[in-house]
Amino acid sequence: MIITIDGPAGSGKSTIAKMLAKELGFTYIDTGAMYRAVALMVKREGIDPDNANAVVELMKKIQIDLKPAENGVQVFLNGEDVSREIRTEEIGKIASKIARHSEVRKILVQMQRELGLRAKNVVIEGRDTGTVIFPDADIKFFFTASPEVRAERRYKELKEKGLNISYEEILKEIKERDHLDETRKDSPLRPAEDAIIIDTTDKSLSDVFQNVLKIIKDRLKNSG
Ligand code: DC
Repeated sequence: MIITIDGPAGSGKSTIAKMLAKELGFTYIDTGAMYRAVALMVKREGIDPDNANAVVELMKKIQIDLKPAENGVQVFLNGEDVSREIRTEEIGKIASKIARHSEVRKILVQMQRELGLRAKNVVIEGRDTGTVIFPDADIKFFFTASPEVRAERRYKELKEKGLNISYEEILKEIKERDHLDETRKDSPLRPAEDAIIIDTTDKSLSDVFQNVLKIIKDRLKNSG
């Protein structure tokens, strides 16, 4: 069974995807982590993220592995655990830039499909999991929330981690990343036609989780 969750940064999709995978005993696949791992390498090597050929060349030297962990996944780049290092705003932005290149997407989509098929029962989340990676997925969700609420969530998260960044700055970055993800030619961020839209703006995590879990259980019951 394949469950896809797509949506913009801060919509709650990662948290819910992890909770669902745990509850259902499914494999969790974080596709954004793979774009982030490539982005980290791009930064380390000093490559221009807008140069598609250079990024693709670099990808030939990259091995990305996702390993299930207590709180989601551990991400390995050529054997090195980069799970924490890829979670910065800067890497998110570079990830969004390299994700605009079709050749880059083709390589990662292929890897993501293989990971999903190997795992059998999966919750996979990202920007194109229901539209491109698994267009025939069993259940597709698309999470949304206002940019202000998403920025607020991110702000709290970073504050808790002790990082010093202003709300205004985060809001600006969220809007920039939305723009990059929604306007790219290849697989722009959008809901699949058969996706269930979940607006998380005014909902608590627990409400969203219960809502989504009920939809999945009803679907499972109806399909026998
Ligand atoms: O979900 P995230 O913030 O970790 O993703 C980082 C960037 O990677 C996102 O801004 C766009 C890109 N991405 C993508 O293009 N397709 C995906 N399936 C997942 C992420």
